[in-house]
This record gives sequence, structure tokens and C-alpha cells, in this order.
Amino acid sequence: MPKTRLGLAICGSYCTFDKIIPIAEKLSRDYDMTAIMSENAAETDTRFGCAENVKKQLLEISGKEIICTITEAEPVGPKKLFDVLAVAPCTGNTLAKLASGIADSTVTMACKAHLRNGRPIVIAVSTNDALGANAKNIGELLNRKNIYFVPFRQDDPHGKPNSLIAELALLKDTIEASLEGRQLQPVILGPK
Ligand SMILES: Cc1cc2nc3c(=O)[nH]c(=O)nc-3n(C[C@H](O)[C@H](O)[C@H](O)COP(=O)(O)O)c2cc1C
Repeated sequence: MPKTRLGLAICGSYCTFDKIIPIAEKLSRDYDMTAIMSENAAETDTRFGCAENVKKQLLEISGKEIICTITEAEPVGPKKLFDVLAVAPCTGNTLAKLASGIADSTVTMACKAHLRNGRPIVIAVSTNDALGANAKNIGELLNRKNIYFVPFRQDDPHGKPNSLIAELALLKDTIEASLEGRQLQPVILGPK
């Protein structure tokens, strides 16, 4: 049987890159995986590392060109490229755009294109404003058809009270549940 086709879209939560790379490696064994990167993820060097290095690793893991532009993301819809699309990590910026129907970046364009086929999108939040400016967007997306969340928790309730981080160890389980039209529960996790 052919493998499930997974799009793994990575946004500019740079501190999460070292966690998502080994998970991408595992996912690539179980799925026919293509990496997608937002412009900010693909082009910005930060104190957490160099963009070229992340791209190189994703290219090696997936064995496929990374989708890095809106033009490259557009065929995701008409060519029905993926069975499921995971946005992991998903920034506050991309969350807000998804909630508002904005598709002005590679990742949001891929999501828009994928959603037109009525297929699942899995979101792994990683943002300091999840319980602040983005709370309403998370609420909006939790209630949206074909959108599923990787269970998340407050990672530092006292130091960063508005921050939420998805439990990336549950990414694969969330993907599998989404393919059955089911939100993995509990979606809100307690402290680690
Ligand atoms: C070093 C660094 C770390 C960042 N970490 C995060 C983060 O963890 N979560 C987040 O939502 N935004 C984070 N940002 C901000 C995003 O990169 C920024 O909002 C960007 O516009 C996101 O674009 P994208 O959603 O298209 O990837 C960070 C920025 C920098 C420079």
C-alpha cells in the first residue's frame, strides 16, 4: 500500500527547530513526507541556527526539494499533493493568518490550497502570545472544520504566562487521529 503523503510545514519558531528535525526524521520513515518552510523559516539566520543548515537537513531527511515559495505551494490544492498537512511548529503569526483567511506566505498558501480538498491540517502551536493576542485565533481554529491541534501545554506559566507549546511527541498520533476525522484528546495537557 502506498504511504500516506504528509506535508510538514515549518514556521519561524526557531527555538523549536532542533526538536522538529529528529521528529521529521522519524515521520519520514512512516510517511511520504515533503517539507514546506515559511519564507521566514527558510531565509532567517538566528541565534538558534542557520537557515541553510535546516534546509539541508530537511532535504536529506525527505529526499525531496523543500517547498519554499507561494508559487511552489499553489499546486498543493489542484494536484492534491498531500493526504494530511502538519504545520509544526506553527507561529502566532501563521495562526493569526490562518484564522483570518490570509494566504500571503508559503505555509498559509499551502494550507489554503490543501483545505480546498477538504483534507486535514494539523497545527502544533509554539508561541508566547497563545493565551494573549492569539487566544482568539486558537479558539477560532479549534472550531474550524478539518483543523486539528497537537495537544499543547503552558510551558512556563509564571515566566511566560501567555505561552503555549504543542507536545511534539504527540504529532504522529495527532496526524493519525486527524486522518480519521478525530481530534486527539486531551487537547490541553498539564505541566510536564
Ligand atoms: C529568534 C526568534 C525566535 C522566534 N520564535 C518564535 C516562536 O517560537 N513563536 C512565534 O510565534 N514566533 C517566533 N518568532 C517570530 C516569528 O519568526 C515571526 O513572527 C515571523 O513573522 C513568523 O513568520 P512565519 O509565521 O511566516 O514563519 C521568533 C523570531 C525570532 C527572530
